[in-house]
Amino acid sequence: MPFLSSCCTDGLINLCDSLLACFVAGISDKCSGHGVTRFTKLLSSWSNSQGYCVEIGDGSWDSWTMPLLEQTSIACEKVKNMTELSQGYNMVGLSQGSLIGRGIIEFCDGGPPVKNFISLAGPHAGIASIPFCESTVICIFLDSLIKSEVYSNFVQEHLAPSGYLKIPTDITDYLKGCRFLPKLNNEIKGARNSTYKERFASLQNLVLIMFEDDTVLVPKETSWFGYYPDGAFDPILPAQETELYKEDWIGLKTLDEAGKVKFVNVSGSHLKISESDMKKYIVPYLGDQPSTESSSYEWLWRLWYLTKDVIGLKEDQPLMHTTY
Ligand SMILES: *[C@@H]1O[C@H](CO)[C@@H](O)[C@H](O)[C@H]1NC(C)=O
Ligand SMILES: *[C@@H]1O[C@H](CO)[C@@H](O)[C@H](O)[C@H]1NC(C)=O
Ligand SMILES: *[C@@H]1O[C@H](CO)[C@@H](O)[C@H](O)[C@H]1NC(C)=O
Repeated sequence: MPFLSSCCTDGLINLCDSLLACFVAGISDKCSGHGVTRFTKLLSSWSNSQGYCVEIGDGSWDSWTMPLLEQTSIACEKVKNMTELSQGYNMVGLSQGSLIGRGIIEFCDGGPPVKNFISLAGPHAGIASIPFCESTVICIFLDSLIKSEVYSNFVQEHLAPSGYLKIPTDITDYLKGCRFLPKLNNEIKGARNSTYKERFASLQNLVLIMFEDDTVLVPKETSWFGYYPDGAFDPILPAQETELYKEDWIGLKTLDEAGKVKFVNVSGSHLKISESDMKKYIVPYLGDQPSTESSSYEWLWRLWYLTKDVIGLKEDQPLMHTTY
């Protein structure tokens, strides 16, 4: 079974840096860049299934500035065009890419079926603050500028993360102005679409990976659909206590009651997953059994393991040192 990594859309690392870098340099990351390609190749090799990566627009610049609804519809067209996926496929979503992945599952009319969906640090229930770099003046300035105007047409049309910024004390404006997450989560009374729920609930497995030391996603429990109650920043409700779950707006409860949701908690900061955790929590959901024969990659990995032992790299070392 082939799988798709929804990448190139992972803006949530060093947001401030990449935003500034984007403005200066144009493009800072693409499918072809750093961590994600290696990530996809490793998963391909371990699961013995072909991995693909969707690229939206021109990579990271668009992943920052293009509204998520638009990114999702581009991804949907691409997925429909890939004959390799036509019999169904598994999907791995990274951070913001998890939302695009879910958008493909729920919104993509006529798209091929998604079997297993593995989400790493996906801000499924929203984020309560844009993770700007701690304290430099420019970042504080940008942060407050964006926050005060986040649900305006301008910000919604020009900054992708505004599509899932959910300020608990500003729910009215969020539901009115935020263009992506309220739709994705079927949050708007009177506008809930049962097709989204049917499609999401038809997954075979939903694997939600939360990073214990994630400071990029606020709160990190959003990776498990946990979030603050409407109106307050406290406490953090577990998924099962949110309205989305209790009223089963998108089928999460249906899936959970059928034993199809895996809530996984790994150590590490945002997206810093170790190879052993990848093998434990992702590979089993990518379909085909690992091969016993040598594929073209196998030799490489054997060599890699040998080398690793020699130079003393530990398996538990984080894989994705994404530098932007
Ligand atoms: C999909 O394929 C059609 C026909 O080959 C092509 O015209 C179209 O541009 C493709 N769309 C995307 C998004 O790649
Ligand atoms: C719900 O979504 C489906 C799939 O996108 C669409 O065909 C349908 O028209 C939508 N229904 C309503 C009531 O908007
Ligand atoms: C995640 O696991 C750690 C131990 O590995 C534990 O301390 C923590 O409470 C767990 N978090 C959740 C939300 O289960």
